[in-house]
Amino acid sequence: MEETTSTTKSKKTETLLEKARNAFWMAPLSGITEICFREFMDEMHAGVLISELVSSKGLVYNSERTQAMIGIHKKPGTIVGIQLFGESAEDIIEGSRYVEEVGADFLDINLGCPVKKVVKKGCGSALLRDPDNLERFLSKIKSNIKLPLTCKMRTGWDHNELTVHECVRAAYNSGCEWAAIHGRTRAQGYQGESDWKLIKEVQQNSPLPIIGNGDIRNSKQAIDRLEESGVAAVMIGRGALRNPWIFMECEGRLKSGHIPDRIEKVSRFFSILESFHNPRHVLIYLRKLMVWLAFGLPGASSFRGELFTLHSSKDVYNLATVFFEKNKNQPVPIFENQEAFMMGGHG
Ligand SMILES: Cc1cc2nc3c(=O)[nH]c(=O)nc-3n(C[C@H](O)[C@H](O)[C@H](O)COP(=O)(O)O)c2cc1C
Repeated sequence: MEETTSTTKSKKTETLLEKARNAFWMAPLSGITEICFREFMDEMHAGVLISELVSSKGLVYNSERTQAMIGIHKKPGTIVGIQLFGESAEDIIEGSRYVEEVGADFLDINLGCPVKKVVKKGCGSALLRDPDNLERFLSKIKSNIKLPLTCKMRTGWDHNELTVHECVRAAYNSGCEWAAIHGRTRAQGYQGESDWKLIKEVQQNSPLPIIGNGDIRNSKQAIDRLEESGVAAVMIGRGALRNPWIFMECEGRLKSGHIPDRIEKVSRFFSILESFHNPRHVLIYLRKLMVWLAFGLPGASSFRGELFTLHSSKDVYNLATVFFEKNKNQPVPIFENQEAFMMGGHG
């Protein structure tokens, strides 16, 4: 009894950051980091899980589709956050009630989305243009929600408006637990490189823990970035799609260059998807994973072509087992730094 009490006591003093499983986190990706993918990434040892960006208006208007986006899988092995965007702090505050109800560990605010439809409404990266306003916005949210608050931003609107230092200060003053930084401006979209020099500089001047993000394509880069920049953790997005084993490699559980059991993972993801989604969505999400895992393997392009002629998940799965069986001795292909891959997204 006494032991339980002391465990409870010590848990209460743990910060959100300390509750993270490790310092290698899965980045939020719209259309990808839905509930099943988060569960899958949890099993692959991602340090923290965050949903894709979710419209707080959609939650408030009780859209069934939006509600489904914020579910939390059973028994997560680490903390799970829901990322919201909204036109006003009030919308986000209202939306946060639903996020609390589903049992999320924290609420993340999207300050990085470069998409026109989003910035036109003053959301996403548009909020980086006026750090004072950002501070008022985040402070209002913080003082009206129960969950810990975090944010994910870009380095600014464009090279003439590199507001990242001021925006991190605004996040700190408003009581955020951390600020994640994708090291590109809004104007860059996904061109050029993530500016890790700037991320390091922000980290060195920030009273707030910084999470670095952008262009990490293998476990060595993840470990190097973490060490060189001194950030509290790194977020990995596209690199984890091509190599879902990356988090285990970062933790030292698997060696880089190991031979992964792709069929086992595809099969596991298939079964998670079937327990949650309708057949149409199972097919969509399953196909995506297969395409990413096949990248760079011999015969990948004809495999991709064939995949899209099939319309049942079972057929797709059967085709994949044949393809991955043929490639069973291949390690995870190298994901080159200069290779363009998924050059668009919401952050
Ligand atoms: C397809 C796609 C969807 C994305 N969706 C989101 C999102 O919903 N919220 C967000 O904060 N960032 C989003 N991002 C940005 C990523 O979280 C990350 O900042 C960016 O991809 C750079 O990291 P990476 O090079 O490791 O992928 C998205 C990126 C991509 C490619």
